[in-house]
Formats: sequence, structure tokens, C-alpha cells
Amino acid sequence: MEVLEAIRKRRSIRKYQDKPVPDDVLKAILDCARLAPSAGNRQPWVFVVVTKPEVKNKLVEASGNQAFLAQAPVVIVVCGDAEVSAARYEDRGRSLYFIQDTAAAVTNILLAATSFGLGTCWVGAFRETLVREALDLPSNLRPLAMIPIGYPDQERGPRDLRPFEEVVWYR
Ligand SMILES: Cc1cc2nc3c(=O)[nH]c(=O)nc-3n(C[C@H](O)[C@H](O)[C@H](O)COP(=O)(O)O)c2cc1C
Repeated sequence: MEVLEAIRKRRSIRKYQDKPVPDDVLKAILDCARLAPSAGNRQPWVFVVVTKPEVKNKLVEASGNQAFLAQAPVVIVVCGDAEVSAARYEDRGRSLYFIQDTAAAVTNILLAATSFGLGTCWVGAFRETLVREALDLPSNLRPLAMIPIGYPDQERGPRDLRPFEEVVWYR
């Protein structure tokens, strides 16, 4: 699938078939995450691949019972290390770049998964302390996004978008 087609087709999918994601496909998606741009090429991220049902259930609890997280065969938890960016960019790295960098990696994951015919959803509503505990994360890593990935079990049409003229300004 062309990247433009993936961008247009991607929707948040919250129902998944009971069908595994092949390992080579998952690895290709994770490689796309690694290829995202990052300030100064610091790559201040770690991608935690969660497949164990007991860990997925803890992620559901951490997210205020967003049960579709456990339905997906795989959840990728994208984590960022503020100090990796701060080491070069000080406050701007700590407060801004590492979050932007990981967001770019999340987008690569969503689009790569779409290209493989997979459904995803960017999940940002969760209690970080509970996710940290569930994944046994070191204190330098902040979980920033959880992405369930699976073959879609729902169809979604075009989304509502704010008008072009409202969001694109020319000067
Ligand atoms: C930062 C961020 C956090 C989000 N958190 C959640 C979430 O916790 N649960 C959820 O179901 N969707 C979540 N979403 C998905 C949005 O609801 C979704 O992207 C938006 O409604 C647009 O729909 P679309 O993704 O199908 O284009 C999140 C999206 C972003 C970018």
C-alpha cells in the first residue's frame, strides 16, 4: 500500500479478529518505528511488545478498562526517555523533543500497520504508574502511548474533519 493510501485509510480500530500478527510483520512495523525522525537523531525511545494475556489485562486496568487492549494479539507500548533528549537539548529536549520524537514513532507504527492490513488505536488515556508497574519499566522510561495491533473486526468509513480552510493558514 502506498503511504498516501495508508494515511487516508487509517482509522482507530477497537475490535480485532482472533488471529495472530505474524512475527515478520510485527518486526517490520517495529523497524518503521525505529526509522522515525528524532531531534538530533537521539532516538529517545523504547518499544515494549506485550503479548502475555496477564500483562495485557494490567494495561486494560491502567487505561480505565479500555478492554479492546486485551482483545488485540499485540500491544506496543511506546516509551520515551526525557534525559536522552535533555543530554543534548536541556529543557527543550526534556519538555518537548522526546515527546514529539515518540509521537513520530507512533505515527510510523500506525501507518505501517495499516499498510499490512492491520488495525490499530493510539491509546493515551492511562495511569502511567500502573503501566510502569505492569511492564517493570526502569524509572528513566515514561510510557507515552499504547498501541493495540490486530486484524480489524470492524469497518470504519471516513472521519469528520475540520474544514481545510479552518486549519490551514497561509501567510
Ligand atoms: C494522543 C492521543 C490519545 C488517544 N487516546 C485514546 C484512548 O485512550 N482511547 C481511545 O479509544 N482512543 C484514543 N485515541 C484515538 C482518537 O480517539 C482518534 O484518533 C480520533 O478520534 C480520530 O479518529 P481516527 O483515529 O479514526 O482518525 C487517542 C488519539 C491520540 C492522538
